[in-house]
Amino acid sequence: MVGTGSCVPERLLTNADLEKIVETSDEWITTRTGIKERHIVEPGEKFSDLATRAAERALENAGLAAADLDMVLVGTVSSDMLFPSTACLVQNNLGATRAAASDLSAACTGFLYGLHLADGLIQSGKAGNILLVGGEILSRYVDWTDRSTCVLFGDGAGAAVLQATRGDHGVLGSSMKSNGNYGDFICMPGGGSSRPANDPSSIDERLPFIKMKGNETFKIAVRAMADVSEEVLEEQGFTHDDIQLFIPHQANERIIDAVGKQLKIDPKKVYKNIEHYGNTSAASIPIALDECARGGRVKSGDLVLMTAFGAGLTWGAVLMRW
Ligand code: ACO
Repeated sequence: MVGTGSCVPERLLTNADLEKIVETSDEWITTRTGIKERHIVEPGEKFSDLATRAAERALENAGLAAADLDMVLVGTVSSDMLFPSTACLVQNNLGATRAAASDLSAACTGFLYGLHLADGLIQSGKAGNILLVGGEILSRYVDWTDRSTCVLFGDGAGAAVLQATRGDHGVLGSSMKSNGNYGDFICMPGGGSSRPANDPSSIDERLPFIKMKGNETFKIAVRAMADVSEEVLEEQGFTHDDIQLFIPHQANERIIDAVGKQLKIDPKKVYKNIEHYGNTSAASIPIALDECARGGRVKSGDLVLMTAFGAGLTWGAVLMRW
């Protein structure tokens, strides 16, 4: 990883703002999720705008030109359109004239799935420079009458530039998992080809909105992220003590704390920014990485463990030497 960047919309939606929209309270949201505020796009603002700005910052940070890119990968479930992909829009916005471009759908695990795949492409020599973006505008899919989901999500994008590095820096190990049997735990049933958005009954049945079985998801998320993190650490011959920085997906502070506890990672090494962003899905890990890189929270040689969990169900972990 030779450069990082991120971008969130300017507009803030606080818990106090949400108290005016649904029957909720700052106290409930803070104690049950750890979220205080989230960034939400204005009407007319597009996901490709956020993704492009995050990508420009990552390229600048890497000292690379867009024309040097071999591939643009975007992990998202909230593309501007079903097609063309947001990756193609970003490729065009940047002027990445030599790059292949494609979106990748793994919800909140999208950035880590992308990192896993990009690492394989770089290791095999199929690509030299890859731009990986993770991000969402889930505020456009949220049902603003459903208090159990509308308080959780925020918008944003994060990006990383990946290239082959010398020595033992970069991705050391990774493992990705899925279980489609629990697909209905977090889903948006309308807007795809089975119940298209142009079918009027789809709106009547409120199908193009996020549905979530929060409690069931919570229990699986903790075990899944802890197990896959343990697997990657063990495979690479490390223990929790060797980690300098742990970045779990920022879905719920209680989930973050429970995973850290199961892995016996010192709470001081666990990165949290959920208070200010909410759950930004595929953006949560790259935004955190960018903050850590720019804020001096991670230094060369540090072992960084990242884990995520999301709709699909999908989950995974990546271990990196910074
Ligand atoms: N304000 C006030 N009360 C609320 C709110 C709210 N915003 N939302 C729910 N409640 C109420 C419920 O109605 C319920 O009331 P009842 O007991 O009278 O029925 C009570 O609070 C408890 O509800 P639970 O759903 O049991 O609350 P829980 O402690 O599980 O917290 C939450 C809910 C925050 C959603 C949690 O379950 C969670 O974070 N789940 C995991 C989410 C996740 O990891 N998703 C994966 C990524 S998302 C993606 O991939 C796109």
